[in-house]
Amino acid sequence: MPRRNKIALIGAGNIGGELAALAAREELGDVVLFDIPDKEGVAKGKALDLEQNGAVLGYDVSIRGTSSWDDCAGADVVIVTAGVPRKPGMSRDDLLSINLKIIRDVANNIKAKCKDAFVIVISNPLDAMVYEMKKMTGLAKSHVVGMAGVLDSARMTLFLARELGASAKDVRAMVLGGHGDSMVPATSYCTVNGIPVKQLISKEKLDAIVTRTAGGGGEIVKLMGTSAYYAPASAAIAMARAFLRDEKRLLPAAAYCDGEYGYKDLYIGVPVVIGRGGIEKIVNIELTAEEKANLDKSAAAVRELVDASKKL
Ligand code: NAI
Ligand code: 2OP
Repeated sequence: MPRRNKIALIGAGNIGGELAALAAREELGDVVLFDIPDKEGVAKGKALDLEQNGAVLGYDVSIRGTSSWDDCAGADVVIVTAGVPRKPGMSRDDLLSINLKIIRDVANNIKAKCKDAFVIVISNPLDAMVYEMKKMTGLAKSHVVGMAGVLDSARMTLFLARELGASAKDVRAMVLGGHGDSMVPATSYCTVNGIPVKQLISKEKLDAIVTRTAGGGGEIVKLMGTSAYYAPASAAIAMARAFLRDEKRLLPAAAYCDGEYGYKDLYIGVPVVIGRGGIEKIVNIELTAEEKANLDKSAAAVRELVDASKKL
């Protein structure tokens, strides 16, 4: 009998709890919700609540809260939210030194216990954290990816849909680049059921949506005092599902570029195909001169952050 998939969620905070809820509801596999010993009670409590939730909703997977890496051993997918979220006024980059230490600890444990996993990093600053994860674990570039593009594209999709009075189901948006203020909404690939949005909206309105998308995370931090978690969790689950079910989804994600788009030894948001082989390919799409110039700027900002983390 084929064994059930195992999904280890590292960090049982806001996103971790929502990831567990979604993975369980979709019965993607058995779930291990890991946190540090101080938060073991939270991890165990959320896990038990979610198992009981299954008895109401009619799903049946094992959900275990733990602070032991042994329980994560052999996971097929590891999703990492360990770290501190942004507080109002804090940039993603301010998080660098705090979260770098945490990611190094998590990476060492993944290397020891989950060396065959598909690892999805969510912790911020995203592009530097996922770079560090790959470096420290030594896992293949196909198996270490960062989640940001699916979320940023979803935000842009919603803003476009609301502006156009269209259904978000018909809108497609693609946001590339680093997960920061320099992200690159690729407006030439934004459509409503195949119709380029540029035919449907004024330049001023589209520019305003681009700006709102780039500040989309900060907008929620300002409102809630902490960062978003429903959409970030759904975005990472879409990536995990694509891997576990070999869906061959084409999604924007932070992938290791080794020459693609002209970038070497850099994680940055690009279109990728995710299937059972992990990141099976980076898709090279044509960008307008302006989009490519913006992507180059974003890549420079990411490289600066990675260089800063190399000194820490
Ligand atoms: P949270 O504070 O609710 O949860 C983080 C959890 O990580 C805490 O429970 C904490 O105890 C745990 N943790 C700390 N050190 C750990 C370690 N060494 N091992 C395991 N767990 C550890 O934060 P939330 O809201 O879940 O956000 C998590 C991260 O995701 C933050 O860095 C946030 O900025 C980032 N984020 C990234 C997004 C993206 O698009 N990539 C979107 C939204 C948030
Ligand atoms: C977000 O985009 C803050 O990175 C976090 O919601």
